[in-house]
Amino acid sequence: MFYSLLRPLLFRLEPETAHRVTFDAIEKAYRFGLIRRAAIACRSRNVMGLDFSNPVGMAAGLDKNGEHIDALAALGFGFIEIGTVTPRAQPGNPKPRLFRIPQARAIVNRMGFNNDGIDKLMANVRRANYRGILGINIGKNFDTPIEKAVDDYLTCLRKAYRYADYIAINISSPNTPSLRQLQNAEELDHLLHMLKLNQQKLSDEYGKYTPIAVKIAPDLDPQQIDSIAALLMKHRIDGVIATNTTISRAGIETLPYACESGGLSGGPLAKRATAVIRRLHGVLQGALPIIGVGGILCAADAVEKVEAGASLVQIYSGLIYRGPRLIREIAHALCASDAQHSSRAGSR
Ligand code: FNR
Repeated sequence: MFYSLLRPLLFRLEPETAHRVTFDAIEKAYRFGLIRRAAIACRSRNVMGLDFSNPVGMAAGLDKNGEHIDALAALGFGFIEIGTVTPRAQPGNPKPRLFRIPQARAIVNRMGFNNDGIDKLMANVRRANYRGILGINIGKNFDTPIEKAVDDYLTCLRKAYRYADYIAINISSPNTPSLRQLQNAEELDHLLHMLKLNQQKLSDEYGKYTPIAVKIAPDLDPQQIDSIAALLMKHRIDGVIATNTTISRAGIETLPYACESGGLSGGPLAKRATAVIRRLHGVLQGALPIIGVGGILCAADAVEKVEAGASLVQIYSGLIYRGPRLIREIAHALCASDAQHSSRAGSR
């Protein structure tokens, strides 16, 4: 309700300014006790060996440095994914690099992993009081040659391992040149091998197993999806996040800002992301869980992702267009469909 009143004002601001103003407001509201973490009645679910209090997560990119973990958690998310973070701080692409397309409830961004680096992010994580599920999404610096990308992922994995509940491997942002090349079979095979080897070492060192989930693009053809799924199973990766933003502009070609380069998220991404989830689910057959993300703007969109095979969902653009009430709306719908499934199963 409050967000519906505020949204027209926020949308008059340049998008990155609106982002900052909103975060400042959420942070202040949290500090002054105006946001109390409201319990969402939901059966907790075990995914990747972790207990999620509700299935609605915050997608990566919203809190790149982990500066607002406690305030964002208070909005009711069942899990929070911070990042993408890179080994070294970097400014990202020149502004403007974020564009709203309200007619399609969409966003185009070419932020380019602007972030303060893994050490700063980890200091913020250690300071936070949040004890729910925290994912740390890691990537490579823009100036690290693609042949050395694995080193960047391993640097971040080692630094984040102890404190993260899961690590997300971002190989699907369209805004870091060549990054998506890491989805090719040969490169991915090597990356996953190295990640798994280091996960094992770190697990022995810390006596704690931190699951790894790989985040993939929506712009893959069915054969590429099948090949990625086979590699995820081969290397016993713990989860897959589908999907990141798309480079396609199908259906919105004529709208203002559609021609800006970058990744498109929100409404126009929904069907494409769901198709990837459905295909993955067909190959994986439950071998590892899928976290569904892309164009979830209402409860029905989230239910569609779950019906396609997702165990959990995440939102980003929906939060911008619908505000925090979307979190509760989705959680209630997914928890209600839990209840329906279990009562159907019980009556069989
Ligand atoms: C993103 N996304 C993203 N993903 C990621 O893995 N690392 C990142 O740093 C970012 N950064 C980012 C910035 C902005 C401005 C947007 C809009 C998105 C992608 C995001 O996590 C999600 O996968 C997509 O946006 C699709 O979900 P929605 O927005 O359609 O709900």
